Amino acid sequence: MTPPSALSSSDARRDDAGDGAFARELLQALSQRPRRISPKWFYDARGSQLFDRICELPEYYPTRTELDILRRHADEIAQRIGRGAEIVEFGAGSLVKVRLLLDALDAPRRYLPIDISGEHLEAAARQLRADHPGLAVQPVVADYTRPFALPAPLPGQGRRVGFFPGSTIGNFEPEEALTFLRQAARLLRGGGLLLGVDLVKRPALLHAAYNDAQGVTAAFNLNLLARANAELGADFDLSAFDHAAFYNAPLHRIEMYLQSRRAQAVKVQGRRFEFEEGETLHTEFSHKFTIEGLRALAVRAGFGIGPVWTDPERLFSVHWLPAAQ
Ligand code: AVI
Repeated sequence: MTPPSALSSSDARRDDAGDGAFARELLQALSQRPRRISPKWFYDARGSQLFDRICELPEYYPTRTELDILRRHADEIAQRIGRGAEIVEFGAGSLVKVRLLLDALDAPRRYLPIDISGEHLEAAARQLRADHPGLAVQPVVADYTRPFALPAPLPGQGRRVGFFPGSTIGNFEPEEALTFLRQAARLLRGGGLLLGVDLVKRPALLHAAYNDAQGVTAAFNLNLLARANAELGADFDLSAFDHAAFYNAPLHRIEMYLQSRRAQAVKVQGRRFEFEEGETLHTEFSHKFTIEGLRALAVRAGFGIGPVWTDPERLFSVHWLPAAQ
């Protein structure tokens, strides 16, 4: 599957683009206290594969639950969206979800996947063009957390509809989520946003989803250090760090860290950084929402409120948020 700062299950993939940004951000992260780096750096090729495995785990309910919701309500969703729509996907991830949507829609006109990685976009575009001969597929290489423009609508095109599944919005800071939604409301004027959002629930379920028995989430988290070793010549000893994830109930979020098992020093690009035993590097927030909380945020960003679809256990939600003209 894909994930933010333009994150995409295969809904968040971010590449360094060879511009040294990973090195800069990691050095910055290690120099500050508390130590903290953006989750966008999880998604190199190996990290994206590990994320795809997470999406298949028995404990990780969001992917299969969202897919079920989309399947069960595809016709109703398609009716809301209408004929000849243009689908703008924020982050080009696994094609499974957008295919479900495109298959249900009445004569969708164009698909615009937006992703920072052009390579990833082209692969996705080729597959979709082959499967949907009537659909224009036009990848847009951009960081969707920053201002960017979309191509002009095609003649006779229906609504412009954003698609942001996977609860990737939960990986943003609250302010970033608002900024993202404000930009989406501007880009999607007269159309709407179909948004997948993970819901607040029993802490034990959340804990299990981010501490799976097979250790795939731990490997995904630790891969950040493996990536630093491979790309930046860092010397992180992966066996000297633990994956740590817990649910912060008052703040409605999973917090994920890499925690040093002992006092140690690491080198990154010739610079030395010391870790005390138990010291952490924060790698991810995964915010969980109430339906009312998400709607209040959407309204602040300029959206209206539409229907919300959930599963019987109310684990996950898919929102239709109309964007005013
Ligand atoms: C991409 N994103 C929505 C996932 C999440 O659940 O926050 C990333 C993830 N991190 C650990 N497991 C999955």
